[in-house]
Parts: sequence; C-alpha cells; structure tokens
Amino acid sequence: MKKLLLLLPVAALFALSGVAFAGQGEVSEKEVRRAVLVVSFGTSMPEARHAIDSLVDEARRAFPDAEVRLAYTSNIIRRKILKEENLFIPTPLEALAKLQDDGFTHVYVQPTHIIPGEEYEDLGRVVTALASIPGKFGFEKIVLGAPLLADEGDCADLAAILHRTYGDRLGKDRAVVFMGHGSPHSANAFYSQMALCLEKVSDRFFLGTVEGFPSFDDMVRHLEKSGVRRVTLVPLMIVAGDHARNDMADGDDPESWLSQLKEKGYRVDAVISGLGENSEVRALFLKHLKALVD
Ligand code: CO
Repeated sequence: MKKLLLLLPVAALFALSGVAFAGQGEVSEKEVRRAVLVVSFGTSMPEARHAIDSLVDEARRAFPDAEVRLAYTSNIIRRKILKEENLFIPTPLEALAKLQDDGFTHVYVQPTHIIPGEEYEDLGRVVTALASIPGKFGFEKIVLGAPLLADEGDCADLAAILHRTYGDRLGKDRAVVFMGHGSPHSANAFYSQMALCLEKVSDRFFLGTVEGFPSFDDMVRHLEKSGVRRVTLVPLMIVAGDHARNDMADGDDPESWLSQLKEKGYRVDAVISGLGENSEVRALFLKHLKALVD
C-alpha cells in the first residue's frame, strides 16, 4: 500500500509530462512502432514471385498492427526487375534505413531462406551492425528470425508437410525426388538432415542438391536401390525459378535432372511449384516470425 502511494505521484508526473508509463518502472519516451521486414533472395520470374508475395500478405494479416515490407538480397535480380518491370525492390540495408527514417522502433527481420547459410549470415551481419547503433539513428530493437530449417523439429515439420502434399505420388513403383539448392557453407549439413527426415516419413522420398551434398549422383545411388521406375521431381526451394525450371525440369537440356533420369530409364514428371506456394510451408515461416515477435 505504502509502495503504491509512493508510485502514484510518479505516475501522475509522467502522465502530465506526456511520457508513457509502461509499468514495472520501465519508462519509454518513444511510441513503439513495429515493422516486419521479409527478406528473400528474390526471383526475376513474375510467375514465381507469387510465392514470396503470398508470405508478405500473410505476415500482414498475422500482424495487423505492424508495417510489413519486403527486401531482396540478390542485386542481379533487383536490377533486372527494375529494368524490365520498373519495379523497385530494396536491399535489406536500404529497406531498414527507410524503416528507421519512417520512425519504426522495433523491427523483426524474417528471411525466407531455407538454411542458415552464407546469405543468412550476410543478413545477420546487417542486423547485428544496426542493433549496435544507439540513439537517433538506431532502432530500439532489431532482431533476425530463423530460416525455414533451423533445428530438427523444422526438418520433421517440413517432411510431414511434404508427405501430406506429395504422398499421393508415392507407390511401390513411384518415388519423389526433391531438388535442394546446396551450398559450400557448413549449414549445407541441413540438407543431409532433411534427407534423413524425408526418409523417415517415406522410403520413396529422395533428396539431392544442385550445388552441395548430397549431389545428383548421391541421390541417384539411393534411388536405384529402391527399384522404382517412376519419379516425380519437386524443387526444395522457396520459388520455382531458374534452377527448378532449367536445371531440374528442362526436357530439352540433356544436363537437367529430368533428362538425366529419363536417360537412365525412369519415367519422369516434374512439379514446377516452389515451397513458398505451399500454405503449410508459409505457416512454418510465420511460426518462426511469431516466435521472434513474441
Ligand atoms: Co543458385
């Protein structure tokens, strides 16, 4: 009671001076203004961009009180879109500078990357650097969200989603082969973990990567042992862009996975749909974003 009486005049003072009294002795002079920055590698294909834009739309619906904006990390893609479509998409650093200038105090950066690899680390360095700026040109809070695959639970969740989505393409004679990107970064190990999680939900699920381990040949070794003759190719990438359309599914290119598997005698079809087009995968990203904001 004594304590309350002592606090009351203090609270009244703050109220009079127009300073918000946030309780627990925490006094904030600035109004809290929240923003979410969705950061993607980007894609130059307008038909594939839908996957990223859907995530931005859903983030807006999930956080109606926050400003939600988008940035791309690929300069090549950003410049191509600007030139061909006159559409400007900022880099993360540009977008964050604008959010700072627009008066946002709390910023949640959510990447759409699959693994915490090189791109993710580059973004992390930007966030860390900006978080170290005090005063007028800094944010009160700026944090980085987890990529799609940040732990074992994420791998299991994604495997379950993929089983729900592509389970009907599995059978005694049928398999699904996922094409990941792959990276020389140590976080590439997530693809091996993902391959094991996929194997756990179906022994007809296989995973290879374009630029890392397991390679196409590694994947084929497992596929051959299964004895299946029909294969569906699916990109394990956020957007079905250049890699999915060309390296994976281009029937006219003898180097594509589709052509190489056909050459080995498989009956092959391909799904041209990025993970970002799957609402359950987007929900996984939103789960990571929610964990960040809460
Ligand atoms: Co690539």
